[in-house]
Amino acid sequence: MKEESTMLKISFEKENRTIEVEEGENLREAAIRNKLSIYPHVTKILNCRGRGLCTACTVQVLQGTLEPRNETETDKLGKKPDDFRMACQVSVTDNLVVRTNP
Ligand code: FES
Repeated sequence: MKEESTMLKISFEKENRTIEVEEGENLREAAIRNKLSIYPHVTKILNCRGRGLCTACTVQVLQGTLEPRNETETDKLGKKPDDFRMACQVSVTDNLVVRTNP
């Protein structure tokens, strides 16, 4: 029998939408797949497409537990509050409430 993978829910606070994602899915990709824009303004076009360079994908995680920031995030997000995360660097491991463009 095929094992069911765990589905997790991500609620996008500003958009008032909840999406279902597979455990371990990348947060940026999950948002894009569900046609949720995480990029403000011109960075919709001018972003680094998940390479960890532009920080335009930064979101605030209001609820839910994630792995600690990786090196890229630690480096790029510097003094931002701990709940600010770069969506392209985050694997979804819990049900989350997320604020885009914090
Ligand atoms: S998409 Fe550029 S840093 Fe995440």
